[in-house]
Amino acid sequence: MVIGVPSESSPHEKRVALVPGVVPLLIKAGVKVLVERGAGETAGFPDAAYEEQGANLAADRGRLLSMAEVLVQVHGLDPDAKRTDRKLPGRDQTLIGLLNPLGAPEAVRELAAKGATSFALELLPRISRAQSMDALTSMASISGYKGVLMAAGLLGKMFPMMITAAGTITPSRVFVIGAGVAGLQAIATAHRLGAVIQAYDVRPAVKEQVESLGAKFVELELESKGAEAASGYAADMGEDFYRRQRELLTRVVAESDVVITTAAIPGKKAPVLITSEAVEGMRRGGVIIDLAAETGGNCQLTQPGRTVDVRGVTVIGPLNLSSTVPYHASQMYARNVTAFLLNLVKEGELQLNLEDQIIRDTLLTHKGDVANPAMRQSLGLPELTASSSEEKRPNA
Ligand code: NAI
Repeated sequence: MVIGVPSESSPHEKRVALVPGVVPLLIKAGVKVLVERGAGETAGFPDAAYEEQGANLAADRGRLLSMAEVLVQVHGLDPDAKRTDRKLPGRDQTLIGLLNPLGAPEAVRELAAKGATSFALELLPRISRAQSMDALTSMASISGYKGVLMAAGLLGKMFPMMITAAGTITPSRVFVIGAGVAGLQAIATAHRLGAVIQAYDVRPAVKEQVESLGAKFVELELESKGAEAASGYAADMGEDFYRRQRELLTRVVAESDVVITTAAIPGKKAPVLITSEAVEGMRRGGVIIDLAAETGGNCQLTQPGRTVDVRGVTVIGPLNLSSTVPYHASQMYARNVTAFLLNLVKEGELQLNLEDQIIRDTLLTHKGDVANPAMRQSLGLPELTASSSEEKRPNA
């Protein structure tokens, strides 16, 4: 079986789905790895490094797309994809990647119509066995780190306290809203840079984690019972809750030099937590990095993908931030994808064991249909009847 690594279709994407270091692990599992020439260049992985690890290089993209049974990508359903790529994968092919199914429902329909099997890594269940495959966590962690560096680069102040012959410099104040994966990494990074950090999350359970990283947990007079869904993610708290939260956060935002926001509700638009009045309450020179920009943003003034200046306060809504750290982002992503593949490939062939929760939950399209129940619902498709629990796909 051939696992193909095409270069990413989007010109803004610098990551690559597999790095040379994981190639031997896949070969050991009985598969071949075929990489499009130059696919790893933008991430810092030259063709020769792939060859040294036992991968083959495909001279051109068409050849790779026609030879590979499994295609691994970072952004699999890129709406900007080159036209020829939209024809693929085909009936006997499997696509694995961050497919953004809820954000690209039509592409999912198209993929199903072509008969391709696809797996969306966003749908991975958050169970211990899946931790090594959790690409969302890896990428969120990088975003949290890079978001703080962006803020530090833009702020007209330094982060650490300094006692110098020219006087004492007071430390900058950083406020992190949403202490999940990205938020905790943001706290850790700001702490390493010497800032004074406050953090808030609607899930009270994270207080201990926030404090263990050296930040103060902000207590708001809000009833947060039911804030954590059974999945471990935050639940949608409703507009009355968010209105009160915005009021209470205004004071904390006003006393901060930097605000990093990461609050998200899976499958929904990000809650707006910072009003334009709150931004205007910040001192000139303040910086807001809205890491929830991809799902609309936590700040009312965020424009996804853009930087706006609001009376001296810079509001940035970065998109695809992990791609700006392409070497390590690719390395982490490749390890996640490899762990996923090693769970899926048995004796050199794909085995769709639908009793395995990881395989069942991530399966997006299969046999000409949309397989994922939530996705079917959002596309207005009827529920699927019980299907076979285990199925083997032979090698082509
Ligand atoms: P996420 O990206 O969906 O949300 C980010 C954060 O925003 C979450 O901590 C959430 O509670 C918070 N949030 C939502 N609404 C908010 C509001 N109104 N105000 C303030 N904060 C708000 O979540 P993420 O970062 O992907 O993970 C959330 C949790 O899932 C983690 O803290 C962890 O406990 C758990 N997790 C479990 C994994 C596993 O078991 N394999 C892997 C990764 C995370």
